[in-house]
Amino acid sequence: MKIPVHVGIIMDGNGRWAKLRGLPRTAGHKAGAETLRRVVKEAKRIGIQYLSLYAFSTENWSRPESEVSTLMKLFDSYLDEAKGFVGEGDRIWFAGDKSPFPERLRTKMECLEQDTRDCGGFNIILCMNYGGRDELVRAVREIAAQGTPPGDIDADMIGKHLFTYPAPDADLIIRTSGEMRLSNFLMWQSAYAEFYFTDTLWPDFDEKALNAAIEEYSKRGRRFGGI
Ligand code: FPP
Repeated sequence: MKIPVHVGIIMDGNGRWAKLRGLPRTAGHKAGAETLRRVVKEAKRIGIQYLSLYAFSTENWSRPESEVSTLMKLFDSYLDEAKGFVGEGDRIWFAGDKSPFPERLRTKMECLEQDTRDCGGFNIILCMNYGGRDELVRAVREIAAQGTPPGDIDADMIGKHLFTYPAPDADLIIRTSGEMRLSNFLMWQSAYAEFYFTDTLWPDFDEKALNAAIEEYSKRGRRFGGI
């Protein structure tokens, strides 16, 4: 099986999963966090090198306060657990502007990045307060602030200013729950990615489901604009 180097996942459907069971939406996020743990382990086992996970978008702040605060609590405990990755040769970093997060969370995020900075067998990129447009605007601003002559700006330079750098372009984007949109996720990085959509709701996505996505990816002929 051909294993993609960089996989991005839009973990969608937590709310619907909970609703189907007569549970509050927050129960769906808790179940989704459990799925995340399993999928990260499986991605590492099968040899994916970069796994980008869309955990919280720049637009998600507009959700009810109780839902946002449950998500913050889940992130908080997940980050404690993620310390287990440190020392195992895995790197974890965050794509997105950390400044709106509570200080406690921000400190944990920064520590994890610092502690795993020199690792990199397997890379987890947690996209939190992430938006593809915001990422591009920031990249362009940074380049302009350096006084770069316009003629020197190229795609390679923009790529180096993205939150996901040094991850290569995404090979495969997976979205669960039947929605077929990119929703501001890895816009630049997915220029030549393969897309895989499944009706499975994120909490029900498991090791088998990830392998099914990789198998489908294996069958795709990628031409990158060539013939
Ligand atoms: C989309 O489902 C999911 C989110 C906005 C949050 C993703 C969070 C997790 C998977 C859990 C925790 C993450 C970490 C890093 C511990 P939705 O709420 O939009 O579902 P719906 O479309 O059915 O309403």
